Amino acid sequence: MRPRTSFSFTAVLTAASLLHLHIGPARAITVTSYANDFVDPKYVLAKDFTNFTIEAQDTIVAWAQELAAQGPWSVMNKTYAPPTGNKHDYMSWAPYWWPDCSKVGNTTELTPQEIWVTCPYVSRDGLFNPDGRTINDIGEFEDMANAILYNSLAWAINGSSVYSANVARFINTWFLAPDTAMTPNLAYGQMQRGPNGQNGTHTGILDLKCMAKVVSGILVLREGKAPEWTSDIDTALNNWTKEYISWLTSASIALEEKAATNNHGTFYYNQLAALQILVGDTAGAKQTLEEYFTTQYTWQIVANGDQPLETARTRPYHYRAYNLAAMITNAKLGAYIGYDVWSLKTSKGTTIKDALDYAITMPAGSEAASELWPNVVAVGAIYGDTAGTYAKWMLDNAGNTYPADAQFLWNQPFSDSGLVAAAATSTGSNSSSSGVRQQDGALALGASWNVLAMVVGAVVLALFA
Ligand SMILES: *[C@@H]1O[C@H](CO)[C@@H](O)[C@H](O)[C@H]1NC(C)=O
Ligand SMILES: *[C@@H]1O[C@H](CO)[C@@H](O)[C@H](O)[C@H]1NC(C)=O
Ligand SMILES: *[C@@H]1O[C@H](CO)[C@@H](O)[C@H](O)[C@H]1NC(C)=O
Ligand SMILES: *[C@@H]1O[C@H](CO)[C@@H](O)[C@H](O)[C@H]1NC(C)=O
Ligand SMILES: *[C@@H]1O[C@H](CO)[C@@H](O)[C@H](O)[C@H]1NC(C)=O
Ligand SMILES: *[C@@H]1O[C@H](CO)[C@@H](O)[C@H](O)[C@H]1NC(C)=O
Ligand SMILES: *[C@@H]1O[C@H](CO)[C@@H](O)[C@H](O)[C@H]1NC(C)=O
Repeated sequence: MRPRTSFSFTAVLTAASLLHLHIGPARAITVTSYANDFVDPKYVLAKDFTNFTIEAQDTIVAWAQELAAQGPWSVMNKTYAPPTGNKHDYMSWAPYWWPDCSKVGNTTELTPQEIWVTCPYVSRDGLFNPDGRTINDIGEFEDMANAILYNSLAWAINGSSVYSANVARFINTWFLAPDTAMTPNLAYGQMQRGPNGQNGTHTGILDLKCMAKVVSGILVLREGKAPEWTSDIDTALNNWTKEYISWLTSASIALEEKAATNNHGTFYYNQLAALQILVGDTAGAKQTLEEYFTTQYTWQIVANGDQPLETARTRPYHYRAYNLAAMITNAKLGAYIGYDVWSLKTSKGTTIKDALDYAITMPAGSEAASELWPNVVAVGAIYGDTAGTYAKWMLDNAGNTYPADAQFLWNQPFSDSGLVAAAATSTGSNSSSSGVRQQDGALALGASWNVLAMVVGAVVLALFA
């Protein structure tokens, strides 16, 4: 067994407790949930991976297994129904809204259900109301999206039908099976609660931003002709998606979200463009992305590379990284359909790279610096890193396990700083350039330690904005 690189227990414990905050105590999970991403299926299926992505491949397979063990997921699992009384309707509560029961004139304690409809709710930006996850459609969707992405990638890496069958099962349960399927709209996303809050709000559209991950996974199976991805399921998912796109492009709250000037707007375009690509509407996806890059994008990055609309928020490091992830995802979706925006300039003459270069100079303070890691590797892979600045930043900030991070596989070329090669040489480990390596017990254990270490990079607070 190859010696695993060292990591700090404190960091792992800190990350684990953050994850509890993220997922809820009953469903601890050790997978990094990146804010968003799009993985080019052609790159994945070509399998021409550089040999120092071996550790990232191991991580992906380990994450695929770990996530699959928790599925399937469904909107039916929530304990309360939205105002329609229909659990098939997706529902979530606005994360930063809190009840104020001081003026409702009750003479006894109110039950939680009474509080939800009686007390006015007020916003405290950046401060999570811990009871928000009592209804956890959002967490279930997030886990499902990650499971789809990693099981599809694991299928490409490993070839076992176990992984592709998992994807088909998870898609069927969340979107298609009549007894468990989600209705194709977000009419009850991020409800603010209280006497006037029993309806979805535009911020709820952000809940399904990870459609870009789901689409990445499906395209891998579809283009890779995985037998488990049948034409029946493909047709049915396209049908669902077309109905949902119709809601996403016409409902008033969806259009409000589209108009949001900050990260909410950026993520709206991630979601819509990815879904248009899924249903084969390349022209529509191009139009969607062009709209983003001629509106929000033009004002989101100012002359020094700052993103003032994110910096103004309560957790600036998080929000800058978060919007960057969404901009990068829009750019990757564009690249996939032949619309190259990497050198496109904002009205202040700046690019996505300038936004990253500014973000890495800022102190993380008490925030999770790890949110920036996938952005740094993605930007280094796209714009180049001839001086080794980004690789050095990763080594200094993410530590010597960074080539084992899953995203290191698809954000290439990026230097491994000699870490993987050194580990391989010192033990004579056998890696092949095909990217397929045999798994054994020792490796599986090593991979799970790696997974724990990578948890430090968990984008744990990235779910909401
Ligand atoms: C969620 O719902 C699915 C589909 O009914 C079910 O298979 C799964 O066990 C449920 N998960 C939990 C945690 O209850
Ligand atoms: C009114 O209800 C709230 C929420 O349950 C509770 O905190 C408060 O103490 C109640 N007021 C009285 C007078 O019981
Ligand atoms: C909830 O939102 C929908 C769609 O925006 C709207 O038609 C409906 O009237 C709203 N319901 C309430 C109770 O505000
Ligand atoms: C398409 O989806 C709708 C619900 O979203 C459903 O009523 C309809 O039967 C579906 N059609 C096919 C062919 O799957
Ligand atoms: C990867 O390939 C290069 C060039 O063939 C080789 O020098 C290096 O040792 C290989 N690394 C691993 C981890 O196999
Ligand atoms: C590496 O693996 C290949 C294929 O399994 C095998 O042919 C080769 O002998 C191995 N090399 C070493 C150094 O173990
Ligand atoms: C693929 O994964 C399966 C299931 O975990 C495992 O049994 C098998 O050895 C793996 N195959 C390769 C080529 O890594």
